[in-house]
Amino acid sequence: MSASCFGGPDHVALLSSLYRTAFVTGASAGLGRAIVELLLAEGVRVWGTARDAARLTSLEVNSNFSAVVLDLDNPEEAESAFANAATAAGGFDLVVNNAGYGVFAPFTGVDFSIWQKQFDAMIGTKARLSHTALRGMLAKKRGCLVNVASLATDFPLPFMSGYNVAKAGLSALSESLIFETRGTGVVVIDFRPGDFRTGFNNTMQAKAVSGSDDARLASAWRGLEKNLNDAPPPKYIAAGLRKALLRQRSGTVRCGSFFQAHLAPFLIRFAPSGLRRAITARYFGAV
Ligand SMILES: NC(=O)c1ccc[n+]([C@@H]2O[C@H](COP(=O)([O-])OP(=O)(O)OC[C@H]3O[C@@H](n4cnc5c(N)ncnc54)[C@H](OP(=O)(O)O)[C@@H]3O)[C@@H](O)[C@H]2O)c1
Repeated sequence: MSASCFGGPDHVALLSSLYRTAFVTGASAGLGRAIVELLLAEGVRVWGTARDAARLTSLEVNSNFSAVVLDLDNPEEAESAFANAATAAGGFDLVVNNAGYGVFAPFTGVDFSIWQKQFDAMIGTKARLSHTALRGMLAKKRGCLVNVASLATDFPLPFMSGYNVAKAGLSALSESLIFETRGTGVVVIDFRPGDFRTGFNNTMQAKAVSGSDDARLASAWRGLEKNLNDAPPPKYIAAGLRKALLRQRSGTVRCGSFFQAHLAPFLIRFAPSGLRRAITARYFGAV
C-alpha cells in the first residue's frame, strides 16, 4: 500500500484507544517532539529519547512522559536503553524510529569517517532498534513500527549522499519488514516526510563546506534552506502520522505539501531518469 498522510476522513478515535504505550526516538525537537506532544495529548504513555536528558525536561511535566537517553552513535547502549524502557512499559504498542541528522558535503569533500558514522547511526542503529522492537511486537502479535525515512528516498537530495543512502536503506528495510510481518497482526509503516520546518538544517553536519567557492554547492544549500524555511510546521506531520496510525495498515506513507508528497512522486513514475536528474538539478539551482 502507498498512502498519503493528508486527506481522507477525520477520525474521532483517540490514539490511546489503540496504542497504550509508545517509544519515540528524537523526542527533544522537530518532528519527534511534535509526535510526542500529539501522543501525550491523546492519552498515550510515552517514552521519548534524546542524547541529553536535559533536552526533555519540559516534556517531563506530563506524568505520562518518561525521558530516555539514547545516542544513535552507541548501538549497544541504544538497544539497552530501548530494552530497559520496554521492560518498564510492559512492551510498546508503538515505536517511532525517528531520530536522525544529515551531512551536507560533496562525497569526496570530507573524510570518509563522516559518511561511515552517518551509515552506522542512520542504518545500523536504526535497523537494530527495528529488530528489537519488532521481536517484542511479534511475540505479542500486535504493535506498530514506524520507520521515519524521507522523501529523499524518492528524490535524493543534492550533496547529501550519505543521508540519501541511509534513508533509501531504511525504506528498503521497512519494505522487507512489511512483507515479513504480513498476517502477524503487526503493522510496519515506511513514513516518508517531505520538508517540515524544524531545526534539521541547523544541526546539519559539515555544512561549513558551503563556505567554499563551489557555486553548485552554495546554490544547493540555499535551495535546501529555502525549502525548509518555507515548509509547514511539524504539527502537520503529527496530524499526518495520526491518520496513518488510525488506519492500522502497513505500507508507505508520504507526508508533506501536495506538490512534494503527491504530485511529484506520481509524475516521476513516468519520467526517464535523465529527465528526473535534470529537474532535480534545476529545482536546487545546481545545474
Ligand atoms: N524536517 C524535515 O523536513 C524532514 C524531512 C524528512 C525526514 N526527516 C527526518 O525526520 C527525523 C527528525 O528530523 P527533524 O527535522 O525533526 O530534525 P531535528 O529538529 O534536528 O531533530 C532531530 C532529533 O533527532 C535527535 N538526534 C539527532 N542526532 C541524533 C543522534 N546521533 N543520536 C540520537 N538522537 C539524535 C535529536 O535529539 P538530540 O539532539 O536532543 O539528542 C532530535 O530530537 C530525521 O530522521 C530526519 O531525517 C525530516
